[in-house]
Amino acid sequence: MTATMSYQKEISKRRTFAIVSHPDAGKTTLTEKFLLYGGALQLAGSVTSRKKERATVSDWMELERKRGISVSSTVLNFKYRGYSINLLDTPGHNDFSEDTYRVLTAVDSVIMVIDGGKGIEQQTKKLFEVCRRRKTPVFTFVNKMDRPALNSLSILDEIERVLNIEAYAINWPLGSGPDFKGVWDRESRLAHLFERTERGSYKAPVKTHGFDDPYLKELLNESTYAQISEELEMIEHAGVDFNAQDVLEGKTTPVFFGSATNNFGIEALLDSFIEHSPQPQPRHTDSNTIIKPDNPSFSGFVFKIQANMDPRHRDRMAFVRIVSGKFTRDMQVTHNHSGKKLRLSNSSNVFGRERISVDEAYPGDVIGIVGGNYFSIGDTLSEDNSICFNEIPRFPPECFSFIHNPVPANYKRFQSGLTQLLQEGLIHFFELADSARKTPVLGAVGILQFDLVKHRMETEYGTKVNLEKAPWTMVRWICEPSSSQSPPRIPHGVQKAVDEKGAPVLLFTGEWHLKYFEENNKGIELNDFRD
Ligand code: G4P
Repeated sequence: MTATMSYQKEISKRRTFAIVSHPDAGKTTLTEKFLLYGGALQLAGSVTSRKKERATVSDWMELERKRGISVSSTVLNFKYRGYSINLLDTPGHNDFSEDTYRVLTAVDSVIMVIDGGKGIEQQTKKLFEVCRRRKTPVFTFVNKMDRPALNSLSILDEIERVLNIEAYAINWPLGSGPDFKGVWDRESRLAHLFERTERGSYKAPVKTHGFDDPYLKELLNESTYAQISEELEMIEHAGVDFNAQDVLEGKTTPVFFGSATNNFGIEALLDSFIEHSPQPQPRHTDSNTIIKPDNPSFSGFVFKIQANMDPRHRDRMAFVRIVSGKFTRDMQVTHNHSGKKLRLSNSSNVFGRERISVDEAYPGDVIGIVGGNYFSIGDTLSEDNSICFNEIPRFPPECFSFIHNPVPANYKRFQSGLTQLLQEGLIHFFELADSARKTPVLGAVGILQFDLVKHRMETEYGTKVNLEKAPWTMVRWICEPSSSQSPPRIPHGVQKAVDEKGAPVLLFTGEWHLKYFEENNKGIELNDFRD
């Protein structure tokens, strides 16, 4: 095989995705089961059954364990049927959504987990909106079918209505809760029967039967059998046809039903996922060119920075999604933002707490680069210094807090801690303009991010911080004013400020003030992101 052919093969055998869900829908369990099916975990159950200790492979920080939530994103790699799969973990809690949003820029597809008993929840809606804007293909797993679930037709209808996407059921549940007997696979036209696997510790056996099989008729009582026949007829006749291209374009989501704790439906989901999800996709640069994965020159962008991830390694890691070219250890690249050349010798793969050196990697892979103290979120690393990716939007904060340093002697530590957290993109920073108050203001998408700032400043930089709630709930960036434009008339209740890059913004206490400002400043354009 020529080098080009093997390079192409490496790309076509890669899948990079994230699981998004509302907390408690089963994301951790599904992650664990994928690792089990991929052979990366020997015994499933080791992740969630020790949930009290929260010793999951994706838990890094002390705070995570204390809160029982997953704060930081992990990259897990596993092999499945000859494919190399990168699963980027997304923090599931409402309050860490900006980090979650960014992870979505580094993936090529998404699996959305829905709790069959609850349907679409708020968090899923928000995350899905980001996928839709990016036209990311979405696969849906309706979980917990071993518990009483909502009517399956209503679930499909809800997906279509709320998320405004076509839903195509790949399989169909045969009952739910205590009466859950399995799923009907529409393509093979076979029923896969459900068996509770003891603590989900082995792969679920798959027994198949045709729909007319007397055994199946007997298993499903008469009325359930009749109901399912009717439902199947409805989806066959009224539903959309399966169209693989529509999946790739993010127009249709294939829907799977199952139970992650029981390992049921995992194999069907994974098999269909590797078949229908896209291989690593191109990315856009700020000059609007498209860099394709088969471009031989190495390039990638930083989508996450994490400092002091592990007390054993008190350092900083930048996670880079490779867009094109082959990465090899020790290769020299340019950090395009600063123009600095650097040798990538300290590159690792991270599996939970473990770091594994990586010698080569391909488009779709994520490498962790240790050091690089001048890296920021969104930066490009490449062999071709004309490339500058434009992939990571900043999401407007909705919570604001004044930040004080109560111990002036700690000034240096306070500043360096804050600078680090800003570089990681953990929070937004604003300085008030035309105000007697000189205290800086932090902005976050969710309020828990402030706790994280406090915790990390104290534990990692040894400096106390005082946070004081600020009154604003919205920020808008002022678009570059033209020279003829008159300066904005700032009504009472609206505060002028500049962000960490010096860009002018306005802080609002609510929608009403924003509308009032817009009505009185017709010529001024506001954005909910920085250009
Ligand atoms: P998350 O990461 O989305 O927050 O959800 P997670 O996997 O932690 O699952 C949340 C709870 O739902 C867990 O129960 C988990 O065991 C349960 N669960 C996940 N999938 C299924 C399923 O298919 N069927 C049923 N019946 N339950 C499921 P827990 O009590 O919080 O934890 P644990 O003590 O069971 O580990």
